[in-house]
Amino acid sequence: MTPAVTDTQTLPSMDALVIRGGAPLQGTVRVSGAKNAALPLMAATLLAPGEHVLENCPSLQDTRTMATVLEHLGARVHFEDHVCRVDTGSVRSAEAPYELVKTMRASVYVMGPLLARFGEVRVSLPGGCAWGPRPVDLHIRAMEELGADVTVEHGYIVARAPRGLTGCRFAFDTVSVGATGNLLMAAVLAKGETVIENAALEPDITQLAEYLFQMGARIDGIGTTTLRVEGVDSLAPGRVRIIPDRIEAATFVAAGALVGGPLRVEGVVLEHCEAAVRKIEETGAHVTIEKSALVVERRSRPRAIEVTTAPFPGFATDMQAQVMALLSLADGTSTITDTIYHDRFTHVPELVRLGADIRLENNVAIVRGVEKLSGCPVMATDLRASAALVLAALVAEGETHISRIYHLDRGYERLDEKLAAAGARITRIRE
Ligand code: EPU
Repeated sequence: MTPAVTDTQTLPSMDALVIRGGAPLQGTVRVSGAKNAALPLMAATLLAPGEHVLENCPSLQDTRTMATVLEHLGARVHFEDHVCRVDTGSVRSAEAPYELVKTMRASVYVMGPLLARFGEVRVSLPGGCAWGPRPVDLHIRAMEELGADVTVEHGYIVARAPRGLTGCRFAFDTVSVGATGNLLMAAVLAKGETVIENAALEPDITQLAEYLFQMGARIDGIGTTTLRVEGVDSLAPGRVRIIPDRIEAATFVAAGALVGGPLRVEGVVLEHCEAAVRKIEETGAHVTIEKSALVVERRSRPRAIEVTTAPFPGFATDMQAQVMALLSLADGTSTITDTIYHDRFTHVPELVRLGADIRLENNVAIVRGVEKLSGCPVMATDLRASAALVLAALVAEGETHISRIYHLDRGYERLDEKLAAAGARITRIRE
């Protein structure tokens, strides 16, 4: 038996990756469970006392951090062989402290469930993230619309609803994955009906809604932009199998487009990552679609394309950096516009160090394809930026040394080991 998650596991490792580029990726890589589905599901366990079982839970720094948050609240968490058991029967506290929230913004997902179950919650404001501001105003407004009294005191969001929450109509002006999830988790225990308009369509939210439904919540319109929730008095714990990680899958497809000889990516739900896969195909990569696998082969130099990020089912902002690594080697000039996060470009200067020719104009990256990249020391700056650097390094001439890969470990399970098994010359070293 592995012990319950401990605080020490949330400390970032100081590992680095050393990659010698040019080796083709052949064989099979298997996609793990989705980080961004696991995190709200873990938070949802707070809604119903008892033991919840989350299967196919990825073993990541971020899921460990969420486990630590749950343990801090009084839950018992046991993580073994990708099965995460969360017993929330003993949860008494309703405070998510700064020390934990600052390491992972998704901790804010505990706000809705705790407020709904206990009528009060204190969650630290997450602050900025590696690439810039990421507000939580929509989460706060949603709780207010449900009747909570919300204040920000000493860096904490304090929400109170001593007589419980009441259903509301909430139309999002910006599509927000996290705020849709938080509102949904609070609404399932509110009195009366809540109508959520312009709800996020991301598969992570659909899976959350399905799990809540399985727990006894009354939700109509799952998988659409309008969710109708009829509040219930209580919910019961359940068991859920976490969907495959669509961003990890698409990251492997991008790797295959760069050096696939061919690379088989197993455990993919194509509808979850179709926009990214189609864009990668548009660059000229050869993709064969099987039932739950994609086989990707590089047959020629990639072609330049235009990419614009959008909420699901559009091209995910979480794939923008990795596709930029691919397009940095394209024949011609590509443009990549991020409409979700205008400043999510910390990977640009690092890709430029590797020889890419990229210019930024506000939220548009203009990528003039070069014929080759050349290895050098680079620094990972956030999760998807790190993945982009790994992809670039796989194809760069010579050796690339990527430091600060704790960012990568937050959201990709053993990416280095999976790539090495498919032929990449990649080693992890301790710095
Ligand atoms: N926004 C606001 N106010 C809010 C919340 C969001 O203005 O209160 C804005 C954001 O600034 C952004 C847009 O709304 O411009 C969408 O943000 P969203 O709330 O959808 O993002 P999130 O829920 O904080 C999740 C993922 C991110 C992913 C985004 C967009 C999780 C745990 N995180 O974040 O994933 O980039 O949706 O798809 O699901 C990653 O995995 O690398 C990652 C950053």
